[in-house]
Amino acid sequence: MEKRKVFVTRSIPEAGLALLRQQKNVRLIVSPHDRVLTRAELLRGVKGADAILCLLTDKIDGAVMDSAGPQLKGIANYAVGFDNIDLAAAKKRGIWVSNTPGASTNAVAEHAVALLLALMHRLPEADRFVRAGKYKGWAPMLLTGSELPGRTLGIVGVGRIGSALAHRLADGFGLRVVYSDVIRNIQLEKQFKAKRLSLRQLLRQADVVSLHVPLLPSTRHLIGAKELKLMKPTAYLINTSRGPVVDEKALVTALRHQTIAGAGLDVYEFEPKLAPGLAKLNNVILTPHIASATLEARTAMAIMAAKNIIHIIAGKRPPHLAQ
Ligand code: DGY
Repeated sequence: MEKRKVFVTRSIPEAGLALLRQQKNVRLIVSPHDRVLTRAELLRGVKGADAILCLLTDKIDGAVMDSAGPQLKGIANYAVGFDNIDLAAAKKRGIWVSNTPGASTNAVAEHAVALLLALMHRLPEADRFVRAGKYKGWAPMLLTGSELPGRTLGIVGVGRIGSALAHRLADGFGLRVVYSDVIRNIQLEKQFKAKRLSLRQLLRQADVVSLHVPLLPSTRHLIGAKELKLMKPTAYLINTSRGPVVDEKALVTALRHQTIAGAGLDVYEFEPKLAPGLAKLNNVILTPHIASATLEARTAMAIMAAKNIIHIIAGKRPPHLAQ
């Protein structure tokens, strides 16, 4: 039987790889490097591949597709977001592109809540304070934070993750929900009396602004200096979507001048680099793009990506076509 080459750009959880190994018609090649491949390694590695399983850190453009060759049928991204893949180039070449929607919904929504609670209860500062030996006993106003109930949550983008966040914060913490999205979410409106607002209105009203949009030309710098100025000085910004959705330099200025209260960031405009000054600020919490990094989510992502590959190899449309 003729075997189809599947190139995996970096090792993913075994549950996904095992599924691929079980396929009799698959010749599985997993990059031996536990790091992002160089451009040359990527172009070399994909040669002759019928399918590529890649990560959000791999830039997959027309040149990579051409380097694979005309037999390339599909690309399975090990992520929900697929802004690393040139969809137009893939379409032009008749190549399927798939992603892993839903696999990380709980993880990312939980991480957004964790960032918010950690910010409002000043956990990183408190942790540093104790470790530095500064804790000399209980004091009435030591590291006072603030509470969530009664505040307004502004969700920008109410797909799976944005909606999951609404559930957690409205049901669990008593927040009022407003949202902005290009598509109306009637279920969210019914369930939480959520009000759909323009982005400007949302930024003016929300005490917590959480971003859950894909990175598109229309969402790049969706939150810039102008938008940050609309936010309340007591408001928090949470970003677990994609870094370039926020103008990070403008955010550093807003945080430094405390024109907003704080930010919780898991993603960065020029990842893994941070905007100058960001890491020096006390009113921001920074995590290294780990919102989906629970064992549950990463395993589900691996299985979903592998299943997409199995469909592609069989010449069938993958179940989770990126669109
Ligand atoms: C995704 O799935 O797009 C996440 O950013 C991966 O961590």
